Amino acid sequence: MKERIISERFVDSSIDTPYSLMLDDTAIADMYLICCGAYSPLTGFLKQTEYSSVLKNMRLLSGAVWSIPIVLPVSMQDISVIPTGAYVKLIHNSIEYGYMLLEEYYQPDKKQEAIEVYLTEDPAHPGVKKMMSRGDVYAAGPVWMTKRPPFLFPEETFTPNETRAFFQKKGWRTVVGFQTRNPIHRAHEYIQKSAMETVDGLFIQPLVGETKNDDVPASIRMESYRELLKHYYPSERVLLGTFSASMRYAGPKEAVQHALVRKNYGCTHFIVGRDHAGVGNYYGTYDAQKIFSTFTIEELGIVPMFFDHSFYCRKCGQMASIKTCPHSEMDRMILSGTMVRKMLRNGTRPPEEFTRGEVADILIRGLKGSEDIGQ
Ligand code: ADX
Repeated sequence: MKERIISERFVDSSIDTPYSLMLDDTAIADMYLICCGAYSPLTGFLKQTEYSSVLKNMRLLSGAVWSIPIVLPVSMQDISVIPTGAYVKLIHNSIEYGYMLLEEYYQPDKKQEAIEVYLTEDPAHPGVKKMMSRGDVYAAGPVWMTKRPPFLFPEETFTPNETRAFFQKKGWRTVVGFQTRNPIHRAHEYIQKSAMETVDGLFIQPLVGETKNDDVPASIRMESYRELLKHYYPSERVLLGTFSASMRYAGPKEAVQHALVRKNYGCTHFIVGRDHAGVGNYYGTYDAQKIFSTFTIEELGIVPMFFDHSFYCRKCGQMASIKTCPHSEMDRMILSGTMVRKMLRNGTRPPEEFTRGEVADILIRGLKGSEDIGQ
């Protein structure tokens, strides 16, 4: 377990300045993650040279691995009245959360950013679409937070220093982190528990920031995670805590980012399964695993644990993966996300071998009447 204390950027009082900038949902989430240390070693929104280095080399100028640019998009109109070198209040939904030292601002080449980060410039890709819709100028510089954003799940919200202290108190020497933006189905449970066979603790850290609107809302997912943990996980070996970032759907590059963040929360291992952080057909099934061979474990500071496509196999009579099951596709229970969502919206439980009944019931209740508009 990682014992180093992560530096935080929470301060007591604001600064006197006539300047302010508005943050969108992604930016306030990023600001908090910078300030609580989840994005360590970042201390602010990236300057142009750091930004270019992250796009081209997946590294900060210091050489530290970093794969997703954390930037503050604003409009030229808003920023052009602020002199560089000035302190600027950062406002979200009319509330001041802190301030930044505006060291510079620059106009990114968003087409290049799309290609480097999302590996596509297709405007239908949800991450590309979101990035293109944000401001055309990036404001950069260190940030400080005077007020924490309201947390939807306060009981399950921890800073990296809090989770590190928790793991230490539990005596977990090794902890595996699990990222998800979905309900936990049997395949997820299988890979988590397979990982738990070799480490001391499991940190389930679902992403609860902005997701595309056909993903299951975080409040319904959190209810389903709590229920699942209550019935099927050893409470002494599992912690559930949220990750408040927006989902980028950037596949391989986001997988690296997810691992680095979990390292900051104190994990020693991180699960990367099939098509991690993927969407549609933009990435190969195992691209998010292959990208890790670019780095050494020392550079990453966390050990990725790879899992092949997992499913229930009727012939094996248990959960398995393409690595362990010798049978044919016909024997495997593989349901598409669209199919499962359709069943749940119609009030039908998917087979128990796909989703636990307790989870299905919560999803059925939560999704009743909603429309499936996604892919
Ligand atoms: S996401 O955040 O990576 O988009 P998702 O909920 O789809 O979340 O997946 C969570 C983790 O489980 C990822 O590491 C993903 O690769 C892995 N995973 C999901 N489904 C499977 C499966 N059937 N077999 C193996 N790994 C899977």
